[in-house]
Amino acid sequence: MSRAPHDARHDAGDAPASTEAAQAIDWDALDRAALAVRTRAHAPYSSYRVGAAIVVRSGRVFTGCNVENASYGLTICAERSAIVQMVAAGERDPIALTVATSGPVLGSPCGMCRQTLAEFAVDLPIRLIAAEADGVAPRTTSLSALLPEAFGAAALSR
Ligand code: THU
Repeated sequence: MSRAPHDARHDAGDAPASTEAAQAIDWDALDRAALAVRTRAHAPYSSYRVGAAIVVRSGRVFTGCNVENASYGLTICAERSAIVQMVAAGERDPIALTVATSGPVLGSPCGMCRQTLAEFAVDLPIRLIAAEADGVAPRTTSLSALLPEAFGAAALSR
């Protein structure tokens, strides 16, 4: 049977990946990493800066910020930037993600980023924090809540 280069769903039986129960998450450290990388966002068109920090099962942390372009559609979001860093470093098992956004309203990964995250995690705790707004409580959600019934490599089996 052909197999996609990486299908998180096929790996689900290997270990209880991507749950807080499987490994304690240092959310404070992940938040700090997301806030730090957010300051390096290239967002001259929207002025909406986003930072994302992913911790993988080995404990390594990968970060990304949004990088906009004068040709607006070429923009890459912070979450996908972080995923690219993770894969380029040879890691493929994210266990938690923090996303730090601008303004007082908590953000949430866009649909494209949700699908990209789903390539590498069956589920993933996701913490949303407002980088600049004091008094806005963080929210923790999960990839499965944000993207139920995600399309995955299993559907490509023939
Ligand atoms: N953006 C992200 O980086 N992540 C999200 O979760 C939502 C949106 C970026 C894309 C663009 O640079 C700016 O935020 C406004 O949409």
